[in-house]
Parts: sequence; structure tokens; C-alpha cells
Amino acid sequence: MTRIYGKYLASSLSGSTRLRPSRVRYCATHLMKLAKSSQSRATSAQTESHGAILETGYDRKAAISDRDYAFIREIVYRETRINLGNNKRELVAARLGKRLRMLGISSFNAYCSLLKDRSSGEELYHLIDAISTNHTFFFREANHFNFLNSSILPAFERGEIGDSRSMRLWSCACSTGEEPYSVAISLAERVGMNSPASWHIECTDISTRVLRFASKAVYTEAHLQQVNPKTRKRYFQTGRGANAGSFRIRPELRNHLSFSRLNLFESALPWKEKFHCIWCRNVMIYFDRKTQEGLVGRLSEHLYPGGFLLIGHAESLAGISHPFRIRECPK
Ligand SMILES: C[S@@+](CC[C@H](N)C(=O)[O-])C[C@H]1O[C@@H](n2cnc3c(N)ncnc32)[C@H](O)[C@@H]1O
Repeated sequence: MTRIYGKYLASSLSGSTRLRPSRVRYCATHLMKLAKSSQSRATSAQTESHGAILETGYDRKAAISDRDYAFIREIVYRETRINLGNNKRELVAARLGKRLRMLGISSFNAYCSLLKDRSSGEELYHLIDAISTNHTFFFREANHFNFLNSSILPAFERGEIGDSRSMRLWSCACSTGEEPYSVAISLAERVGMNSPASWHIECTDISTRVLRFASKAVYTEAHLQQVNPKTRKRYFQTGRGANAGSFRIRPELRNHLSFSRLNLFESALPWKEKFHCIWCRNVMIYFDRKTQEGLVGRLSEHLYPGGFLLIGHAESLAGISHPFRIRECPK
């Protein structure tokens, strides 16, 4: 039996679509159901050669000047909307330091010049790879997976969310794949994995590095801490010989997922069909409120009425305008 936190709900919405507890079967900070009647919105440089890989040149102690840090912040914000605060300066220096060493560049100033050079657009990809935080793990925030089983899948099966012939899900900041593969395992447990047309997960991220990893679908023992032995056996192939110690997601499961690079702020998102459920977890924390608001509105347009958006436990939509009714995701 799910608990109802009417009070909490009231405090997290304001204005015309403040929800009456009676309309709410679940209310939540972290999991949102797109209201079926969503007419009303809740108020809610000097260029240096960079082909070679050189280990020398970069001074590990080199600091980023105010000007260079401001430039990097601006470019990262413009490209990704990731809002790097001043407190991230050391982190940025450490992460970019590796890239500078790779390029044989000795200063952040020279690196900024490289970024300014129009012909080095590809370097932006490396910058984003270096800057983005990709921490994730299998079955992270386990109650979301319980909720998928107890509420989202039954709602889909009852035909309450859009087209019920085939389920479409989107993991929109999928990182190295643990999130969408965990979703895939949950779906396979319920509906099987031998019928590729019955469900599909679009997996996207802005970082090409993590996408390469995710599409290989190869994990180590350390990655599989949260995966029980039965699930390992059923959905992973165990590496032998040279591949000992690695585990690869079985092809029958992999067939249900596609990976592609997608910046959530691209002018037009590529989807022609809507989704039943979008997983947008642990990425909004990097964006400012205005950006979060724009993103949530944008995602809602890609959901069927009655569809679900899941956001991370550390994220909240309190105080921003959105068209969702909020449900508690029981712990
Ligand atoms: C901390 S990971 C979250 C992974 C997973 N969703 C989870 O909750 O475990 C955040 C991911 O968001 C991606 N990201 C950051 N800005 C993005 C943007 N503008 N568009 C798409 N992905 C972005 C990063 O590359 C990173 O892989």
C-alpha cells in the first residue's frame, strides 16, 4: 500500500494546478506522472598542434587564470548548460589537466586558444568528456525500479499510457549504461527479452566517451556489486580466457537498446514517437533552475499523456513550473 503525502505535494506545487490529495494516488519528490489533463501548467589562442600524444610539457601545478576559467565555464555552459561554479575550479583543472597532457599543451591559456580556434570544434567533445560527471551504477535508487514494476508497467499494461502495443522508454543521460541496462533487466523479468518489438529503450548522453563504453556493454565485477547472482547468470555472459573477470550483457537484451549522442538542449530533439517513460536522473543537478524548468517542460512534450518522468533523489522541482503531478516513490 503506497502512502500518500498530501501535505508534501501541496507544498511542492503552487498556483492553478496545485493538486488535491484526493486526485493523487502517489505523490513524490522524485517521480512524476505526466498529468493526463495537462492543459494547465503548474506554476509550476595561440593554437598548438594537438595531434600528438605527449606526456611532457604540461605543468601539473599550473593554475587556471580567472579569465581562462571564465572562458571554460562559459563554453561549457553554452554547449551543455552544465553550470560550473567557482568551487569547481580545482576539479576542472584536474580533469582538464589530463587532456592537456595528452595534447602536449603546457598551459590552460593555450588550451583556451585551441578551443577558440574554429577548426578545432572536435575538441569540444573532449572538453565535454573531461568535464561531465558520469557516476552511475546498476539499480541505482532501487525504489525507482520497484515503482517501475509495481506501478509503471501495470499502468502500461492496462493501456493507461499511450500506445500499449510496444513500450518506449528513454534514458536521457545514460552515462556508461548501468541505468538503461537495469531498466532493461526489469522489463525482461516481466515481459521477456525475446521479442524486440515489445519494448525499446533509447539511451542518450552528451559524452561520446561514456556512450562508447555503454554500447560495448562490458562490465567488471566491481560494476556488478548491486546485481545478484541469478540476474548475472540470466542477463550477462561471463568472460573466459583473456576476458576473464568481465561480464557482457547478453545480445538478446542489448537488442532492445540503442545508444546515440544527444545534447538535451539541441534545438530539436530527434524523436518522432512519444515515450511511456523517461529516466532523467542525476543530471538536472548540474543545471540552474531556469534550465531545469525548460528541460522538464521539453521532456513532457515527449511523453504520452499518463507517462512518467523519473528524476534523481537529490533533485527536486520545487518552485519551478511544470505540468506533472508528483508521486511519492516509496523507499
Ligand atoms: C551523473 S550521470 C547520471 C547517470 C544516470 N542517469 C544515473 O542516474 O545513474 C550524468 C550524465 O549526464 C550527462 N549530461 C550532462 N549534460 C548533458 C546534456 N546537456 N545533455 C545530455 N547529457 C548530459 C553526462 O555526460 C553524464 O553522463
